Order: sequence, then structure tokens, then C-alpha cells
Amino acid sequence: MTRALATLYRLLYDGVLCRLPESTAIALGQTALRLIPFDRLGAFRLEDPRLAVTLGGVRLANPLILAAMYYDARILRRAMGLGFGAVTAKSITREARPGHPQPNLVRVRTAAGPGLVNCNGFQNPGLEAFSGMLARIPHRAPLIVSVAGESVDDYVALVRALGPLGDLVEFNISSPNTKLVYEWSRRPAELVTLLRAVRAATTKPLIVKLSPDFADANEAQIIPAALEAGIRIVNYGNTRRVEEPRLSQRAGGLSGPEIFAGTLANLRRTRRRFGAELEIIATGGVDSPDKALELLREGATAVGYFTGFITRGPILARQILERLLDVPT
Ligand SMILES: Cc1cc2nc3c(=O)[nH]c(=O)nc-3n(C[C@H](O)[C@H](O)[C@H](O)COP(=O)(O)O)c2cc1C
Repeated sequence: MTRALATLYRLLYDGVLCRLPESTAIALGQTALRLIPFDRLGAFRLEDPRLAVTLGGVRLANPLILAAMYYDARILRRAMGLGFGAVTAKSITREARPGHPQPNLVRVRTAAGPGLVNCNGFQNPGLEAFSGMLARIPHRAPLIVSVAGESVDDYVALVRALGPLGDLVEFNISSPNTKLVYEWSRRPAELVTLLRAVRAATTKPLIVKLSPDFADANEAQIIPAALEAGIRIVNYGNTRRVEEPRLSQRAGGLSGPEIFAGTLANLRRTRRRFGAELEIIATGGVDSPDKALELLREGATAVGYFTGFITRGPILARQILERLLDVPT
């Protein structure tokens, strides 16, 4: 059944979705997710107590996390029933943002497989509207809220307001599409103040989402500063910045299998250097059960993905979970 659904989705992706302009394919995919109750079909989930992990003290039914991209309440709710151990909401800013003009997302065919480059620019409804939507979502799986700001004040206000509505709070200092957050990784000294202020603003477990573009600063300054501030979880990480002339901003964040080798290398180094004191969500390029398994074997506490959800379909979570249970313990 799982294999048949995976094959069917590949046919749909290659035969239909890939032939449509990206913006039409996205609109179609999101409408389908909103309207069709895929989550009521048990086929996408696999429940087994052996899969459970804890992240920042929160129990996840399994180590798979849908990475940040969706803010629509109906989609987030649906995703919670599609096999993920936790679901991350899109990064929210204090004020609503329209995002960058179209085209802000393009497909790429790399040697490693199908990926995306986006310059979404934080299209989101803003703190007030999003808080209202979130309050109505039952947490069938833990919800990770994500915040993005320009100043320490922004992050503190966002974390104070959204912290109570999520089970964990991720703060984004790594999306490459706006100066808004990417610049934080270039200013590790100021980041120390931010980390401490954010830690003081919520009692929820905090996750710092890192950029693969700043490996040296991450490991020499940012992770030590996070640990010092009492933040024990990193998500390594976000998309990799690339030039892309088809996008309105002429550059964007690359996601999908092309960045997997970097994710694995970053995880290995970080785990070796910081040992068990750090919990690591390894995100970037996972689009198969083998890749997820490799990251978990290399010491990831949990594995995140977004592009694989689009290119391999919602059945990917179930495929990974079946593979994890095959592993001799
Ligand atoms: C269209 C799009 C929008 C995204 N929006 C966010 C976001 O709001 N906040 C964030 O932290 N990451 C965002 N990401 C990054 C993903 O959460 C993830 O870290 C990245 O795509 C790498 O994982 P993947 O290769 O599995 O997609 C976005 C990615 C894409 C493709």
C-alpha cells in the first residue's frame, strides 16, 4: 500500500505538478491539503511506541518534523495527522508581510534529485492574525511555532505572544531571502543579547535554526552562545543561499537533496564537537528513508524536511517510519 501510494504520487508529481507553473502547482497542492481529509486515512501514519523521542522534554510520537513553510491553520492541522512527530509553522513576523513578488519559487533538477529554490520573503499574516488562527488548532502532534525578527524587541514580542500557543519555539536567524534574519548570523556578538532575551521571554523549549552558509560562526560562536544562554536545541538547518536568475530577487534558498551532503557533514561535526549536551534537528535534503536513517544514526535527535513532502508526497513520512522500524535494535 505504502509503495503504491509513493508510486502514484511520483506519477502525479512528474506527470502533472511539474508541468504546471510553480505558482499554480503550489496553489493546487495547498488547496488539496486544505480540502481533502488525507489525515483521516490511516495509510499516511504509523504509530508505534518504539518510534517515540523527546525533544526539549516534549514527547514526539516519532522523530520526523515537518519543517517551516505553512502558516494556514487547516494545513497545519492536517499535517499533524500525516505521520509527523511534530509540525513546524512558518516563521511569523510582527507585522503581516506580502513576501517577495513572483516568481519567488522555482523547481530545480539537480544530479541528486528534484529540489526547489525560493525567495519567499516571509509571506505571512503577521503576529495578531496568526495568533488568532493558532488558538483554534488542536495539537494532535506537537506544534513548533517559528519567529523571525529584525530586532531583539521583535523576537521577544513574538516569542511572548506565540510561545503559549506552541509546544516548542523555533527562532529563525537563517532564512537567506531577506536581510531581516540572515544578517544575525553575521553578527554573533549581538546575537548573544538576542539569545538571552529570547530565553527569558518563554518557558517553552527553544530551538535556534541555523544557516548552512555560516558553519564556522555557528560552531565557533553561535552554538556555544546558545548553550550559554540555556538554549539546548539547534535546527541545522535552513536553505543554502544560491544565485537564481529566474527568481524576482535573482537569488534564493536552495532546498532538497542537493543540500543533504552538507546537512550530514554539519550534523557529524556538531555532534562530535558538542556531544550529548545539544539536541539536534537535522534538516536539509531528506527525501528518502535512507537519508533520514543516516541522520538519526549519526546522532540527530529528530529529522526535519519540507521539500521531500512536495517532491515525494505525504507518504514519505510513512515510508521513513516503516524503514525505522525495520532497523534491528
Ligand atoms: C517555500 C519555502 C518556504 C520556507 N519558509 C521557511 C520559513 O518561514 N522559516 C524557516 O525557518 N524555514 C523556511 N523554509 C526552509 C525549510 O523549513 C527547510 O529548512 C529547508 O527547506 C531545508 O529543508 P528541505 O531540504 O527538507 O526542504 C522554507 C522553505 C521553502 C522551500
